[in-house]
Amino acid sequence: MKKLVAFVGSPRKNGNTATLVDEVIRGAQDAGTKTTLFNLYDAKIKPCQGCLVCRKTGYCTLQDDFQNIFEHIIEADVVVFGSPVYVWQITAQMKLLWDRLCGLFDENFKLRYPTKSTIMVYSQGNPTPEAFKASFQSNEAVLKMLGLNVVDTILLTGGSDPSTAANNKDLLLRAYEAGKAV
Ligand SMILES: Cc1cc2nc3c(=O)[nH]c(=O)nc-3n(C[C@H](O)[C@H](O)[C@H](O)COP(=O)(O)O)c2cc1C
Repeated sequence: MKKLVAFVGSPRKNGNTATLVDEVIRGAQDAGTKTTLFNLYDAKIKPCQGCLVCRKTGYCTLQDDFQNIFEHIIEADVVVFGSPVYVWQITAQMKLLWDRLCGLFDENFKLRYPTKSTIMVYSQGNPTPEAFKASFQSNEAVLKMLGLNVVDTILLTGGSDPSTAANNKDLLLRAYEAGKAV
């Protein structure tokens, strides 16, 4: 059975990001995938201390909720990262997680695990889809370096109200189908 692990990096537990990530998960479950969801605002993830031990051993020396999260990422076939756009980028909670993922490659930047399909979910207030394209492309490059290949990106625009996603039937279906496809 395929495994999917999803992360919501929004403090709004029932907001747009969470709504769309839930749909991706629902689609994946309907396709017979085992899913696990983490809300990063419930998880205790300390900032990377820059010791670089993970580059040598593959494991982080900090003890917190990351250990369990990392095991889920290692075992997953599919990873879903959902984040609102905060000041043009992913939220700080999501960045805390990404900084801690450098154990996915070794000292020579060689990946320790097979690459994984990755779905990005973004929600932004700005109505223009291209507004933060540069940030999204940069994120895609970072994730590729970690062996997390972005195969689909779900983007909600004009999402100042937390219920915007729930009222966007087309995008909900897009998210559901993205989950089903992997
Ligand atoms: C601190 C903060 C910074 C934000 N920065 C941006 C931004 O740079 N561009 C933008 O379009 N929206 C920005 N927003 C709006 C959110 O991206 C938008 O409301 C999003 O839909 C929230 O998603 P959520 O409901 O999942 O939390 C910001 C919101 C907050 C609270």
